[in-house]
Amino acid sequence: MGQLDNKVALITGASRGIGAALAVGLAKHGADIAICDLARQAEALADVKRQVEAEGRRCFAHHVDVSNIAEVESAVADITAETGGIDILVNNAGILKPSLLEELPEADWDAHFNVNAKGVYLMTNAVLPQMRARKNGRIINIASIAGRQGVATQGHYAATKATAITLTRVYAQEVGMDGITVNAICPGIILTEMGKNNLGSDEAIRHWQDVAALKRLGYPDDIVGPAVFFASDLSAFVTGQALNVCGGIYFH
Ligand SMILES: NC(=O)c1ccc[n+]([C@@H]2O[C@H](COP(=O)([O-])OP(=O)(O)OC[C@H]3O[C@@H](n4cnc5c(N)ncnc54)[C@H](O)[C@@H]3O)[C@@H](O)[C@H]2O)c1
Repeated sequence: MGQLDNKVALITGASRGIGAALAVGLAKHGADIAICDLARQAEALADVKRQVEAEGRRCFAHHVDVSNIAEVESAVADITAETGGIDILVNNAGILKPSLLEELPEADWDAHFNVNAKGVYLMTNAVLPQMRARKNGRIINIASIAGRQGVATQGHYAATKATAITLTRVYAQEVGMDGITVNAICPGIILTEMGKNNLGSDEAIRHWQDVAALKRLGYPDDIVGPAVFFASDLSAFVTGQALNVCGGIYFH
């Protein structure tokens, strides 16, 4: 028996990094999986689908830009029809292009808010009606410790992640009466494309490894356990919370 047997989880930004690890990880715990990512990620998305199916679970892949309401609503309708219903939503899709705020082009400000903040709101609103009807649901937002601390060269990104944490708290209060929990995971530095690009050098990696209480940086699989906790009945009485998963580099 897995913690997520008979559940269906929809994961955005699932062609690589944390999203791909969550797709395979939640499948290992028994869930059928719907994976979404941009059309340009088609090949990588197909590879993740094969990995999920190798775990013996069903997997449905869709090309969705989470900042586009028409694509979001049509994908959620299609996934609902093919799976029978979405029990778990993981809002994982995100972008980070570092810049000092004074040098940040307006278009980059808009792009970060469109994907990292509006994407959470669009996806969540699209799945909520069916979760409310079933009086059950689990929503997990992948935020960041940057959203709590604020980080130089990531001001725009950190602001979107602070928004994701605030949306987590507000949705939790607005949907809890229908048996739906909403929680956030705030990863620290995870060694994905995004994490490595952001650190920039081996020296920076060594520096942050030394800062971390656990003396290492994170891997995508480090996010799976906390996600299973929030996705399952293990966390039935937990909502509106944001959990740092950072190996001890940030403590608030
Ligand atoms: N890696 C880290 O150190 C770290 C730390 C804190 C938080 N996070 C967050 O974790 C999540 C996953 O990050 P990652 O490190 O795996 O990054 P990543 O860049 O490896 O993966 C992000 C995925 O999101 C997809 N994506 C981007 N824009 C999209 C859109 N508009 N619609 C649909 N999909 C889109 C990308 O194609 C990609 O597959 C992000 O929300 C990120 O902000 C990452």
